[in-house]
Amino acid sequence: MLQGKRIVLGVTGSVAAYKTAWLLRRLVDAGVETQVAMSASATRFMTPMTFQTLSGKPVFTDLWDARVDNHMPHITLSRAADAILVAPASAHFLARVAQGLADDLLSALVLARQCPLLVAPAMNRQMWENPATRRNVACLAADGVVILGPDAGAQACGEEGEGRMLEPDDLFAALTAFFTPRRLRGRRVLLTAGPTFEAIDPVRGLTNLSSGRMGYAVARAAADAGAEVTLVSGPVARAVPWGVRRVSVCSALEMHAAVMERATDVDVFIGVAAVADYRPAHAAGQKIKKDAETLRTLSLVPNPDILAEVAALPDPPLCVGFAAESENLEAHAQAKRRRKNLPLIVGNLIQEGFGGDENHVVLFDEAGAHPLPPADKVTLARQLIEHIAQLLEPEQTA
Ligand code: PMT
Repeated sequence: MLQGKRIVLGVTGSVAAYKTAWLLRRLVDAGVETQVAMSASATRFMTPMTFQTLSGKPVFTDLWDARVDNHMPHITLSRAADAILVAPASAHFLARVAQGLADDLLSALVLARQCPLLVAPAMNRQMWENPATRRNVACLAADGVVILGPDAGAQACGEEGEGRMLEPDDLFAALTAFFTPRRLRGRRVLLTAGPTFEAIDPVRGLTNLSSGRMGYAVARAAADAGAEVTLVSGPVARAVPWGVRRVSVCSALEMHAAVMERATDVDVFIGVAAVADYRPAHAAGQKIKKDAETLRTLSLVPNPDILAEVAALPDPPLCVGFAAESENLEAHAQAKRRRKNLPLIVGNLIQEGFGGDENHVVLFDEAGAHPLPPADKVTLARQLIEHIAQLLEPEQTA
């Protein structure tokens, strides 16, 4: 989404400026043409040389910079940009932009812009809560400025509260989302991801090798497309994608309860989780001794089929399944799709789908098989979300 975009990355005076170096690194890696402009106080925290080295371009700090032919860097830089992102944006900078002041390069190029402006505030919690800052931020939001964050937590000054700049990876995700077509705007998407864990006793259980990567990628792509996303996740240690609400569960029964509580209230349900088909009939309260008969011959009972149950609701959401098969992908996936009464199922081979960053999937619907080129899971997730958007609104097909 970001490749080839031209971003002016503004940096103002805050200790959070050290994190902007990592954001810049990510932008450059993603093929973004990034031009850095710093306020004078930002140069107290980070040197222009750091950003110049990372971006491979001269960094601008001065309204009167003679390196630009027309001596008007504020016009030249702002005209060349698809967006301006100021991270960190100090309280002072936000106040100046709200007032329309243009007394340094960064504020002047923001005032002269013809492109969207995104700001990532960073300041002490009391400064953030101050009515003056609240007024300025409300004024900027009303002017169409996109406010990213801030986060709450421990602050560099030693206090705790709201005012931390969003983490660089979250800012990168937010910028990606900003440039993603909002094909699912106003839609609510519920999905499952990861494995389930079926307890045998307090230390043992039945589970599988799902890493959650595919499901988390689909959640992220849906959120980037503008949907309100709830991710019911089995036990995996993954960061929650920006803008996604996670409900953490462990067993299939917990996943079932979390999904059924929400399924009547959504437009789309996507089952990416590798849900255990069976669970031990009784989870022992105490650790079972290794020579106990119950451990040698585990007695299992079936788990509810969450996806089939959602698809069987009187007014079901659009239900999309996943099928991981070790052979005969088309036959098995199509059989699953029909048995669960789904318009669409995503087939992948176990050897390719489980665990890694890449996958090779085939979409199966009533018309047949539609293979997608092998790709990383984030790319595949975006293609799946585009396909789902087309199913929801065929007339808006791109
Ligand atoms: O997490 P990763 O490491 O990235 O791996 C991704 C994946 C391989 C797990 C994923 O791409 C995938 O294929 N998930 C489905 C795994 C599977 O084959 O599930 P299944 O055949 O048991 O179930 C078919 C569908 O029904 C799935 O959508 C599943 O979520 C759903 N199901 C299954 C059983 C059950 N009790 N309830 C369900 O909702």
